[in-house]
Amino acid sequence: MSLLALAVGGRGLVDPDEPILHVDDEAFLRSRAAFETMRVYGGHPFKLEEHLARLAGSAARVEIGRIDTEELARLATLALEAAGAPDAMLRLFVTPGRDGAGSPTQVAMVSTLPQGLDSLRERGIGLVSIQLGLDPELRATSPWLLGGVKSTSYAVNMAAEAEAKRRGADDAVFLGSGDVVLEGPVTNVWWRYDDVLCTPALELGILAGVTRATLVEEAAAGGYEVREGAFPLGHMAEANEAFTSSSIREVMPIVELDGKPLGAGAPGPVARELQQALRRVARR
Ligand SMILES: Cc1ncc(COP(=O)(O)O)c(C=O)c1O
Repeated sequence: MSLLALAVGGRGLVDPDEPILHVDDEAFLRSRAAFETMRVYGGHPFKLEEHLARLAGSAARVEIGRIDTEELARLATLALEAAGAPDAMLRLFVTPGRDGAGSPTQVAMVSTLPQGLDSLRERGIGLVSIQLGLDPELRATSPWLLGGVKSTSYAVNMAAEAEAKRRGADDAVFLGSGDVVLEGPVTNVWWRYDDVLCTPALELGILAGVTRATLVEEAAAGGYEVREGAFPLGHMAEANEAFTSSSIREVMPIVELDGKPLGAGAPGPVARELQQALRRVARR
């Protein structure tokens, strides 16, 4: 991935090589900041409004205060025009700003997409389950644990991804206590029994994925029942097929879980169907 364009609140377009944050910004000092990542299809960010609404919610939860979503949308347009790449990745960041100064910094960045996602989709991915050591019910009722908040504190998520790779897999899936399936480090997870699609409930304190919400609608339109709940890992492991969902990776089939084949051990038909449905919605 390489950075193509950068726009900063109050400044407009900035050379991507230029530094834009101060060292006493709490984003740097304590990783207290919020962000969003979305795909750009044909020059248009997918579900920008939904991402901005989630960003405003995350910013409030990490005490950044009111952010200016209209300015962020303008910064996104500026950066997208400067990048001139029809298919790309757009990231929005809001930080509290300099210590004590109380004025948030808002940033829009456009980068190239990670390579190799479509070939990974053809092959399917292997996941390993990783304990978060968290009681999901407790997280949902403890706002300071920041369940469902997209803050920039992703070191644990990245460590889980690295651990999965060390164990020979492609990605991780987080478990709460009782081996309840939660989400991946940067994805939501799904699995299927016949015409029933299961996915962890938002009440478990997981991120309310924008792609997840799109797939809930598309799955219902395609005649599938969507069941949201607290499911143990064994329920996922025995499914007919499984997949992850996220803005950048879209619908990614899971073919192996904890070293054992999941379903037929090959990308499943409903993952393919929903990937096509997602692309149709994105190109509308
Ligand atoms: C922890 C986590 N869960 C789920 C998702 C998927 O969300 P979305 O579909 O909005 O990209 C992400 C991606 O940002 C994530 O970081």
